[in-house]
Amino acid sequence: MAKNTLINAIDVGSKEIKGIVVSKKPDSEELDVLAYQSIPSGGLRKGMVINPEKTTTEIIQLKNLLEKQSNTHIKDVIINIGGYHIVVKYGKGAVAISRADQKVSQEDIDRVLEEAKTLVPNNPNQETIDEFPIEYSIDNETGIKNPLDLKGIKLEAKILAICAFSPYVKNLIDSFLGADLEIDSMTPTPLASAEAVLTPQQKEVGVVLVDIGAETTGVAVFEEEMLTHLAILPIGSSHISNDIAIALQTDIDIAEKIKIQFGSYIFKNSSKKEKIEIAPGEIFTFPISKMSKAGRARISEIFDLIKKEIKIAPKQGNLPAGVVIVGGGANLPGIVDFAKKELNLPARIIIPKGFIGMEKNPSLATLYGLVLKGLKSEKDEPTIERFPSFKKLFKIFLP
Ligand SMILES: Nc1ncnc2c1ncn2[C@@H]1O[C@H](COP(=O)(O)OP(=O)(O)OP(=O)(O)O)[C@@H](O)[C@H]1O
Ligand SMILES: [Mg+2]
Repeated sequence: MAKNTLINAIDVGSKEIKGIVVSKKPDSEELDVLAYQSIPSGGLRKGMVINPEKTTTEIIQLKNLLEKQSNTHIKDVIINIGGYHIVVKYGKGAVAISRADQKVSQEDIDRVLEEAKTLVPNNPNQETIDEFPIEYSIDNETGIKNPLDLKGIKLEAKILAICAFSPYVKNLIDSFLGADLEIDSMTPTPLASAEAVLTPQQKEVGVVLVDIGAETTGVAVFEEEMLTHLAILPIGSSHISNDIAIALQTDIDIAEKIKIQFGSYIFKNSSKKEKIEIAPGEIFTFPISKMSKAGRARISEIFDLIKKEIKIAPKQGNLPAGVVIVGGGANLPGIVDFAKKELNLPARIIIPKGFIGMEKNPSLATLYGLVLKGLKSEKDEPTIERFPSFKKLFKIFLP
C-alpha cells in the first residue's frame, strides 16, 4: 500500500517562526495537519537572520513542540528566505545545438540555462538562489517559450534570477544546521505565499501577490504564467504599530494592541476618543484621529512602494487578475478597499483551503505555500533529480 507523504515546513518570519507537520494520503487532496506551532522570533531583522545562535535556539524549541504534537521525528524541513537583500536580476546564455539533426534536446536546454545562470551579474558576496527561464531564441527567432525539438544552430536563453546576499543565506542555513535539521528546499517568501494562493489562470492573465508581514512586504508579479518581478520591501505591519506608538506616545506593545483592536479606524475619519485596558484597572484613552493619521501615512507609504514595484514589471501594472493580499498585515480591516484605490486594481485576500483543522488566517500563506511546494517536488522527484537539488547542495554543509 502506498505510504502517506509527510511534509515539515518552517516559515522563518520577523515576528514569528511558524512550523507545520502535514500528512497527505496518496489518494486524497486533503492535508492532515499533525502539528502546528509558532513562537516569537528574536534573531531576525526585516526578514533576515542577524543572530543565527538565537534563531537556532528558537528553531530547536519549535522543532521540539512540533515533534511532541505530531509524534514524529523531524529530520528535514522546507523553509523560506526573506529580506530585502533578495533581488531580481537577469541572465543570458547561449550554446550551440549539439545534435546532428540540429533539433534542440533537453540537454541543450539544461546547458543553456546553466550558462545563463553563471552569467547572472552577481557581486562576489551574492548568489543566485532560484532561476526561471523567461524566453529562448533559436538563431534569430526570439520569444520562444519551449524550444524542445525545434531546429537551429544556436540556442539562447534569458532567465530571471533571484539573487541573495550570501552572508544572510549562510546565517539562515547555519540556524537550521545548528538545530540538526536538513534543509530540503529554500523558497523566497513571496514565491512560497504565491504558491498557496494564486491559480495558474491568475498567473496567466497577470496578477500581483502582496505579502504584508511584520517587518517586510513581499511583492511577486506574474504575467503570462511567469514570474516577471519580485521584491521584498523592508517595511511591514509592525511599522504601523511603531508609528502609532510615537503618535500616541505609548509603548509599542500597547500600540500593537490598539492597531489590532481599532485598526478599522485607520481608513476612516473620526473625532472620537477610544479606551483600551493596558493593565488590570489601568485604562489608556486616546484620540482616534491621531492613531488613524499615523497608521494611514504608513500604510500609504507601503502601498506607494508596492505600486513602484508593480510598475517595474513588463506590463507596468496592467494586471487583470489584480492584487492578492496575504500576510498578517492583510488582517487590517479595510485594507482590500484601500488596495483597490491605491493600486487601481481588483484586490482580495485569499486564504488557502485544504489544511484540515487550521485557523483561517492570511498570515499562514507562506507556511502553506511551502507545504504545497514540498508536495509538488515529491511528485516531480524524477525531473528534479536531473539537477542538483537544494537537498543535495545543503547536504554538503552537513557535518
Ligand atoms: N488584525 C490585524 N490588523 C493589523 N495587523 C495585524 C493584524 N493581525 C496581525 N497583524 C500584523 O501582522 C504582522 C505579522 O504578520 P506575519 O505573521 O505575516 O509576519 P512575519 O511573517 O513574522 O514577518 P515577515 O514576513 O515580515 O518576516 C504583525 O505586524 C501584526 O501586527
Ligand atoms: Mg512572513
